[in-house]
Formats: sequence, C-alpha cells, structure tokens
Amino acid sequence: MGRGVSSAVFKFKPFSRKQLQLLTWWQSESPVKDMDGIICDGAIRSGKTVAMSLSFVMWAMTSFNCVDFAICGKTVGSARRNVIKPLKRMLKGRGYKVTDHRSDNILTISRGDVSNDFHIFGGKDESSQDLIQGITLSGLLLDEAALMPRSFFDQATARCSVEGSKFWYNCNPAGPGHWFKQEVIDKREEKRLCYLHFTMDDNLSLSERIKARYRSQWSGVFYDRYIEGQWSAADGLIYDMFDRSRHVLAASPEFDDVPAYVTCDYGTLNPCVFLLWKRAKDRRWIVTKEYYYSGRDNKKLRTDEEYANDMLDFISGERINRIIVDPSAASFITALCKKGFKNAVSANNAVLDGIRLVGSLLVTDKIGFMSCCENTIREFGSYVWDSKAAQRGEDIPVKQFDHAMDAVRYFCNTVLAPGRKVGTSDLRKRYNI
Ligand SMILES: Nc1ncnc2c1ncn2[C@@H]1O[C@H](COP(=O)(O)OP(=O)(O)OP(=O)(O)O)[C@@H](O)[C@H]1O
Ligand SMILES: [Mg+2]
Repeated sequence: MGRGVSSAVFKFKPFSRKQLQLLTWWQSESPVKDMDGIICDGAIRSGKTVAMSLSFVMWAMTSFNCVDFAICGKTVGSARRNVIKPLKRMLKGRGYKVTDHRSDNILTISRGDVSNDFHIFGGKDESSQDLIQGITLSGLLLDEAALMPRSFFDQATARCSVEGSKFWYNCNPAGPGHWFKQEVIDKREEKRLCYLHFTMDDNLSLSERIKARYRSQWSGVFYDRYIEGQWSAADGLIYDMFDRSRHVLAASPEFDDVPAYVTCDYGTLNPCVFLLWKRAKDRRWIVTKEYYYSGRDNKKLRTDEEYANDMLDFISGERINRIIVDPSAASFITALCKKGFKNAVSANNAVLDGIRLVGSLLVTDKIGFMSCCENTIREFGSYVWDSKAAQRGEDIPVKQFDHAMDAVRYFCNTVLAPGRKVGTSDLRKRYNI
C-alpha cells in the first residue's frame, strides 16, 4: 500500500503565483535570473518545499551536466521524507529518470544526455558534516534552513564554488534574533538573494477546511510563526493558551477502560513530580492527581528507594501502562525496576517539539487537569520563555518552576506525539532501554 502511494506520479493542483515565481526566477526571461539564490520563508504547508525542490532540479538539469548538487534537510531522514519522496514522484511525470543510490544517499537524475548527482545531507547529522567537506557543489538546497546549525550552513555554502552555482533556502520562521534571519534574510541584498514570503493561501491544494484546521491547532508565538509566517519572539508565558475555565476540571469525568500512565520529572533538591494520566470517555487525557516533593523546601532529601516507595503508594489500585521518567534519571528507573516496575521507560525529551505539542493539545482541548493538581496548575501560570536567550535567537524556557511542566511534556511527547500509537508501540525499543 505505502509503496504504491509513494511511487505514484504526483498529482499537481494549479501552482499559485508565488509558486510560479519560485519555479521561474532563474529562467532566461526572468529579470532576477542573475541573482545568486533564493530564500522562501513563511507559514507551514504553504507549498515552499514542493515548488522549491522541483524548481531546483529543473534549474540544475538545464544549467549543468555531470556535476554535483546537495539537497539538505535537518537530518537525512527528514530530507528523504519531506523533499526526496515527493520530488521523485514529481520528476516521474516529467520525463526524468531518477536512480536512488540509497546507501550513499545520492540521487542520480538524468534526462536525455544530461545527468547530475544530488547528494542528500542532514544539517544535524555528524556524518553529513564530514562528508560535505570534501565535495564541490554547483548548487545547494537547504530545506528547513533555520533548523540547521550555523556551522553546517557555513560549511555547505562554502562548497558552492562552481561558476553559476546558486543557493536555495526555505524555512519556517523562528525568533527574530535567529542567525538565519539576521545573517541571511536581513542581508539578502548584499548576498544577492531573492526573497519570497509564503502564506497558506499560496498553496492552492489546501481547502479552506484544512487551512482552518491548521489555524485552530496553534496559538501564541507558534501561531505567529507557523500560520502568520512571522519571525516573532518567544516572549512571556509559554502556555498562554492555558485557560483554567477550559483546562481545569472540578469534577471527575467518566474514564475509559484503558490503562493509565504516570510521568515523572525527577529531582532531589529540586522538586520531584509524578503525574497520573487517565483517558476520559471523550478521549481527553486528564491528569487526575499529582505528587510533588521538594527536597529543598522540606529540608530533607529523599533517596531513590524512598521515591520508588512513594510511587508504589501513588499508583496503588491503578492499572498502569507505562511509567515515563525523566531521561536523565537513570538511577530512578533502576530503583523502580528493583521494586518490580518493569514498565518504567525514559521519556522523549525534545524540549521545543514537546512544548509545541503541549500547546497545540491545549488549544484543541486534548488534555486537562483535575483541580487537585495545584502545583501543575500554578506552574502553567509561571512557566516563561528566557528573554535573554530570545535575543540570541534561541527559544529556551526559564529553568524555574518547570518540574510539572516537564512531566506534562514527557507524556505528550512520548505518548501523544503524532505517529505514536498509545498502548501498542514498544516504547522500550523506541527509546533504546
Ligand atoms: N501545486 C501543488 N499541487 C499539489 N499539491 C501541492 C502543491 N503545492 C503544494 N502541495 C502540497 O501541499 C502540501 C504542503 O506543501 P509543502 O510541503 O511544499 O509546504 P511547505 O511550505 O514546505 O510546508 P512546511 O513549512 O510545513 O514544510 C504538500 O502535501 C504538498 O504536496
Ligand atoms: Mg517544507
């Protein structure tokens, strides 16, 4: 099934005006054909990657023969998923022959007498950093450029030494202090780069209903960035969409008959938090109670063994699917195993992905908290972005009053992240434990 879909010819909808500009800027009749490259930024799902990758290959195949190009994603895996997979389907309908040398991550694309190699790299993959150093490129496409380390960007651009080579960058916005905004977008004139800003209306394949659905999933700074396409700062409250009247429940709802989860943010001096998650009949995941112990406030530290005993009390009478623990607390996982909890696993700790997900689960009312979870509810009101880091272009939460917030994030990112099937996926294998 999957194979059939991924190899089918791409079904194009009419290109929008923006996409047409992106497809033609390098062509002989274009007034900007001598520019050194193009940047496309803006909203998610706005048709940047599809139009840019097709344009890139058409330009490369028209302008060069027997040379090398690079197509880069955040990782090789994401480049293959987001760029190469649709690209192969698009090229298929247009008379190009594509041979994928999978083990070398090279696509050889040919048509008539013209044949070029397109190397696939991941900006965050260490192996890519070494491999790209030795290569001479005639063109470079960076998909999701703002997610790559600056060092990879510098290395990759320095490889484009061939006369007539061009740079192709696309991304969603990050903070206004981000290096890609400051050093590339804001200096586009001196770098001789064209610039196109995309919104979801520039993708004519999206129905109004789908666009409305995307809009409804985001709020706050992420709405500004992913829907409005603005380079807006992560400032103030992280979960400004948290609303007591919607997300805090005074009375217990009816629960489904599925096993519960516990998430744990571990601390000795700092607070140690356990949250118990149960699924309500309306499929919301509700935190029904919390455990919150601060060694510092109580002037007494607890040992792993004591915490494991507290866990035993905390979950007594409950059917538990997994205990999902702070990944840095290996010793506590061992202590839990010793007590016979064979289902303790470490959490997925991708901070920003997790925060984005928690935010969108709040906006769409997929998670809630019983009113007895006082510390968790309080932390929603004090969990803020680090404004100094924001000036450097980094999105980092202030590491203060963040313990229950981490435990909330662990649950969402480990159990509810798209592609994870609750209760059936083998978390142990996934997280290598
Ligand atoms: N002209 C088109 N015809 C058919 N489908 C299209 C067209 N343009 C875009 N799409 C589809 O719309 C979706 C979003 O496009 P694309 O991935 O290029 O957006 P993007 O701006 O790169 O999004 P993101 O910022 O999330 O990476 C994809 O499923 C793509 O196949
Ligand atoms: Mg994209």
